[in-house]
Amino acid sequence: MTAPDRYAVVGNPVEHSRSPFIHAEFARQTGQAIDYGRLLSPLDGFAATVRAFAAGDAQHAAARGCNVTVPFKFEAFELAARRSARAELAQAVNTLRFDSEAEGGWFGDNTDGAGLVRDITERAGVDLAGRRVLLLGAGGASAGVLGPLLLARPKRVVVANRTDSKAADLVERHFNLAAECGVALRATSLTGCGTGFDVIINGTAASLAGASVPVPGSVLVPGALAVDMMYGPAAHGFLQWAADHGARGRDGLGMLVEQAAESFFAWRGVRPDTRPVLALLRERIGG
Ligand code: ATR
Repeated sequence: MTAPDRYAVVGNPVEHSRSPFIHAEFARQTGQAIDYGRLLSPLDGFAATVRAFAAGDAQHAAARGCNVTVPFKFEAFELAARRSARAELAQAVNTLRFDSEAEGGWFGDNTDGAGLVRDITERAGVDLAGRRVLLLGAGGASAGVLGPLLLARPKRVVVANRTDSKAADLVERHFNLAAECGVALRATSLTGCGTGFDVIINGTAASLAGASVPVPGSVLVPGALAVDMMYGPAAHGFLQWAADHGARGRDGLGMLVEQAAESFFAWRGVRPDTRPVLALLRERIGG
């Protein structure tokens, strides 16, 4: 019997990652023989850690790929020999596939945005086409999702951030794609984002800093969808805010499972059914 192909999630910290559970479920469901673990990388040793994992050693076969989480997504971007268009726009990589030199070298992808869009459209049942979308934050989380959001062809996307210049930079990088998709895209301060949004997506780290949601509830239309990219206790403040203002709240657990499915597809060419895995995860961690 051949050994299962090896994968892992690489991060620091990484012990709380749900990815091993999710990928084990995907593997069971699809009959794919993979072994997916956690790999803690020293903060100053990401490239060496990943290269050693990819190469294998006397006890371990060479690995086939990895997911990359905080704080290494930018270094993973640099490490990839080739990247998907959405990774280029995000300037960050959460999925590496260790293709051989003959195949073109390591392939880097960013599946976060596709995961978010799929969760919103398929799981939450909200078609983004023609909608007005407010994206809060202009850090790594927001950069990871803006390209795929534009591809879903909403009417308008406003990126609002505490630091104006970061929102402006992010928007500038996406101007061509927005024009191609027919989306009105603009950057604003948190106070100047306007009103009338059907969907709000929280990509800020405000809740981690103990701060409240940095825009008033009046930005939302009644019954709007309010999605936090975080889950668990980190999402509670945003979800409460959403409920207080008549919005439908949704945490980032669905996005987590969907982005994992996109990675699984990039590695294995097989698309798992995410629904039962999300249900299992909710049972395990609540929310
Ligand atoms: P990540 O990779 O998780 O996105 P990040 O790149 O540090 O982390 O970005 C964090 C985002 O949360 C930024 O948009 C940040 O705003 P600034 O660009 O002004 O720093 C935003 N953020 C963090 N704390 C915030 C707060 N208390 N209020 C509003 N925005 C906040």
